[in-house]
Amino acid sequence: MKRGAMKILFAASEAYPLVKTGGLGDVLYSLPHALHDRGADIRLVLPGYRALLRQLDPMRILGWLDVRGAEGMVSARILETRHPDFAFPLWVIDCPPLFDREGNPYVDASGQDWPDNAERFAVFARVAALLAQDALNLGWQPAVVHMHDWQTGLVAALLAEQPRRPKTVFTIHNLAYGGYFPSSDFVRLQLPSHWWSPEGAEFHGVFSMLKAGIVYADAVTTVSPTYAQEICTPEFGYGLDGLLLSRQYKLHGILNGIDTRIWNPSTDPHLPAHYSVSRIQPGKRRNKRALLERFLPQADDAALQAPLLGLVGRLVEQKGIDWVLAAIPVLLAETDVRLVLLGSGQAMYERKLARLARQHPQRIFIEVGYDEPLAHRIEAGADLFLMPSRFEPCGLNQMYSLRYGTPPVVFKTGGLADTVVDATEAALQDGSATGFVFDVPDVAAFLDALRRALDLYRQPAQWRRLQQAGMRQSFGWSESADRYLALYST
Ligand code: ADP
Ligand code: GLC
Repeated sequence: MKRGAMKILFAASEAYPLVKTGGLGDVLYSLPHALHDRGADIRLVLPGYRALLRQLDPMRILGWLDVRGAEGMVSARILETRHPDFAFPLWVIDCPPLFDREGNPYVDASGQDWPDNAERFAVFARVAALLAQDALNLGWQPAVVHMHDWQTGLVAALLAEQPRRPKTVFTIHNLAYGGYFPSSDFVRLQLPSHWWSPEGAEFHGVFSMLKAGIVYADAVTTVSPTYAQEICTPEFGYGLDGLLLSRQYKLHGILNGIDTRIWNPSTDPHLPAHYSVSRIQPGKRRNKRALLERFLPQADDAALQAPLLGLVGRLVEQKGIDWVLAAIPVLLAETDVRLVLLGSGQAMYERKLARLARQHPQRIFIEVGYDEPLAHRIEAGADLFLMPSRFEPCGLNQMYSLRYGTPPVVFKTGGLADTVVDATEAALQDGSATGFVFDVPDVAAFLDALRRALDLYRQPAQWRRLQQAGMRQSFGWSESADRYLALYST
């Protein structure tokens, strides 16, 4: 490590490939690596979930820190490890009563929030804030602490109390998750009483860890320029729009990048065949065949020639799954499309999708669950990628699909609006078109975009131009990592 390199402590609740529930995990892998590549000295601190500890080799104990929990003091062991996928050391907060359990970082097996989430992430934040002040005397004092989403919001609030402290940067990946907890948790955790105010972390009688991050961090960022504007409006602000508007002086929209080493159709180890922008076929077609054959042992020519729509994502309202459910029967009647969908989330969506698949076993293929290799194969094997999110702070899947020559169909919002160029006549002519964008939030507009897409799919030369334009986009981290570095330094 270069002398004088900027020391940055990342605090987050997930990081690919160790623990990931969505795009947050991807960013917590690729952004710190992009900064490391630019000479920064990084540590990433994560909660010691059971699933995480299981994947890590024996670790060095850095020390113990005792902090206030819900029922008294809680002891956390701080571990350091090197992992082959990470170019910098990981710090893990090992506190078995809070993190050593089966399942998801945030919810139990039945999908309910862990009842002690307030304590889990307050303790995580207290320990992370101490590490940010080098409480273990490791001789590693960060200049900046970069926190992500509500799980880390209290780190900013705790550090704001300290006279000598690192700069704090808080990134909102999704304003829909506010980390709201009742006042009884606030009291039990003995959080500073002056935070309990509309000017602080209180929000209409409860408290919000996300709001704490927004109020107390030195700088707040969100993951696309359009979303940075949208969250300052009542439509997207979840009641925090007024606060965000008043903090515009410290609010920045910085578009996420993608990890172009992991998401690369010419090297991706999950793909049965590789391809690149200079030669899309026959590689892409082989991926389509393999994907279809996973669901239809005898994929005939009709299936191979029909447009294959793909969708990968959390099955929640945000992702416009109800629009997809409403559009499918119309598309099945009007066209010969097939659909392959991978996702998990709300039981109601899982049930409805499974029913559709049972009704149309030759045309609708649903995989409920979480499957990283299959996500890659869908990005590569589908012809069109569906991402009709009602709101989308950034979205990574549409960028993956562009890079894989699978034009996306998206609603004009957040990062989707910032990354996909609609195939209008003019954009097709000048070669800037990369996908299909609809700007009225309803099924009719979504269907209209799908019909335009299917029309163009039948025009191979135009289609290839569209694929090539998407594959040539540079969605790497260079520009955005430089913007973060500039922000850290001001
Ligand atoms: P969000 O973070 O809102 O879920 P993004 O598009 O930013 O949306 O990122 C989603 C990430 O999670 C992508 O890497 C995507 O491939 C992955 N993903 C989502 N659902 C699944 C799933 N069921 N199986 C595998 N990967 C998934
Ligand atoms: C959130 C958002 C998504 C974004 C991701 C990474 O999960 O929903 O739009 O891409 O975080 O920043």
